[in-house]
Amino acid sequence: MTKPTDSGETPLNTATRLVHSGHDPADYHGFVNPPVVHASTILYPNVQATVDRTQKYTYGRKGTPTTEALCEVVSGLEGAERTVLTGSGLTACALALFAVTGAGERIIVVDNIYNPTRQFCDGQLARFGVATTYVDCGSEEALQAALDEGPVSAVFLEAPGSASFEMIDIPARAAQAKAAGATVLMDNTWATPLFFRPLDHGVDLSIQAATKYFAGHSDLLMGTIAGNGEAIAKVHKAAQHWGMNVGPDDVFMTLRGIRTLDVRLERHQRNARIVAEWLSAHPAVHRVLYPALPGAPGHEIWKRTMTGASGLFAITFKGDVRRGVEAFVDNLSLFGIGYSWGGFESLAVVQPVPNMRSCTEWPADEHVVRLHIGLEDPADLIADLSANLDAAFSGDRMAAE
Ligand SMILES: Cc1ncc(COP(=O)(O)O)c(C=O)c1O
Repeated sequence: MTKPTDSGETPLNTATRLVHSGHDPADYHGFVNPPVVHASTILYPNVQATVDRTQKYTYGRKGTPTTEALCEVVSGLEGAERTVLTGSGLTACALALFAVTGAGERIIVVDNIYNPTRQFCDGQLARFGVATTYVDCGSEEALQAALDEGPVSAVFLEAPGSASFEMIDIPARAAQAKAAGATVLMDNTWATPLFFRPLDHGVDLSIQAATKYFAGHSDLLMGTIAGNGEAIAKVHKAAQHWGMNVGPDDVFMTLRGIRTLDVRLERHQRNARIVAEWLSAHPAVHRVLYPALPGAPGHEIWKRTMTGASGLFAITFKGDVRRGVEAFVDNLSLFGIGYSWGGFESLAVVQPVPNMRSCTEWPADEHVVRLHIGLEDPADLIADLSANLDAAFSGDRMAAE
């Protein structure tokens, strides 16, 4: 069997690439999967070789056949020249920002950013004199006004926001930011490169919390940063200077997870759509914040820019019904209460959205529950949601709030 490659006239399609890239069984005794290489020291044949540094692997932290396999798969998916692995999705956001900014510079960050990324900007970048301007990047005018205030080294985008699900026209905003000379970064964990490839749309650094759909089984933390040219070279150098490393077992597990990414996402998307449609007709539900749903906020942008949707969305409720919301989430039986998402299982979490933004408004009485729709049968999920919505938001309960 000859290993399929991209060197032919027709590039491999995503599903094929997910199965075949990253490892050629012929390179390792025919084993379908690459070896899990545990390594710090790598031996050299003689002293001259330590000076020449021409051998492929030089030290565990600098890469092994295992890390290389995952990087190759991700680079292929992202259309990137290089991928840097990090120990978590948050580290990927932090490292990428750190690499492209410097003391005394200013960055622009979308206001509905993943909250710990905001905390990194305010808590760590600020210590080194990097100023962060938060902006509603859904608005061309707001972004332009912030860009016009003075030099900006980086613009960090995320779409949709992982708590409140506002969409951004990424190609348009990236073009604006590039015209102002900024490096553009995007946390694309929600869509994954299967449904949106940031690097094809003007983004310089595409970030994934690989913890979520890449790994897909809620059993590890990992981040990836993919890019081309100078931007990813800076990230790679910063990762080396920081001595960043990821354990080979987690890399292998991510590689195992990513092989089925296409199949899992298709099912997450199908299930989420069924559940979101059902919820949108429920009398207790005020809004379903799922860009893939016709009529939902950001649907037009989503349809124009992305080719699919994952299984994460939020609902809000009619009335100021905080206690009802808590009872609803507490009593669900198929939805675990927990952070993170992208695993095979369904999750529910109350999101305090007003506390997670600084320049855009969110009504204090519009309570948000974020749902991750897993790979269960959607009929069972709907039955669970239905029973608990009815129990929590019966007429009596609503009146008592
Ligand atoms: C959008 C988004 N980005 C980044 C992260 C951080 O990933 P990790 O938990 O691997 O640090 C998360 C985690 O929930 C997330 O939702």
